[in-house]
Amino acid sequence: MKKYLIAGNWKMNKVTAEAAAFAEELKAKNFSNADEVALLVPFTQLTAVGEGLKGSGIGFGAQNVHFEKSGAFTGEISVPMLEEIGVDYCIVGHSERREYFGETDETVNKKLKALILAGITPILCVGESLEVREGKGEQTFVASQLFADFEGIGMADASKVVVAYEPIWAIGTGKTATPDQAEEMCAFIRGVIGGMYDNSVADDMLILYGGSMKASNAADLLAKKDINGGLIGGASLKVDDFSAIVDAAAQLK
Ligand code: 13P
Repeated sequence: MKKYLIAGNWKMNKVTAEAAAFAEELKAKNFSNADEVALLVPFTQLTAVGEGLKGSGIGFGAQNVHFEKSGAFTGEISVPMLEEIGVDYCIVGHSERREYFGETDETVNKKLKALILAGITPILCVGESLEVREGKGEQTFVASQLFADFEGIGMADASKVVVAYEPIWAIGTGKTATPDQAEEMCAFIRGVIGGMYDNSVADDMLILYGGSMKASNAADLLAKKDINGGLIGGASLKVDDFSAIVDAAAQLK
């Protein structure tokens, strides 16, 4: 049976009281596919969300991490700090971090290695800008991100990574990639992973789509063969909107 992961990326939204209420409401939904659902929340909301989701089967995690264990890195959060909270996931290399906070493939690679070592599942984001797509360079661009991001990561470790294809032109713009565009790139990513490792790593890898996914377009995207779920921004901020996407995945089982 096809595996899914429906992951909400709250970005910089919600204070603790709102986060706790959301987690409680989401838990009360008693999803049949709860183990295929996750919330990626601001650092300061991790404890409340973890508590609120306890016993639900729904996973949770952070949106970024530093690759060093400790040290003089003012304002940063380390892997041991996340481990202590018991997170399941951590987003790495989101395009907003690459664009606004100087994230590079080199730092992404270090973060992947640090998370894998700690047993936290990285959700690695890749994806091209509008300019790159208009120049028909999207496959070359995404392949180069994958090569650099997985540099020096062995087969057993690579199989622990979730990849999210997030075309930058579709993030927060309301402009979703068509199911065929999303499927084409997710299948391409699976092919690149197959070439870097082998078919079993590629076949088992969860490859998500992200970019204006919502209840009205989720089923068509999630039905595609190489799309194993979604990384959802705006539509993950309301319990009902997010739950509708979780239900769409459950119905495809
Ligand atoms: P939107 O769903 O708001 O377009 O955001 C997508 C995203 O960046 C998820 O990580």
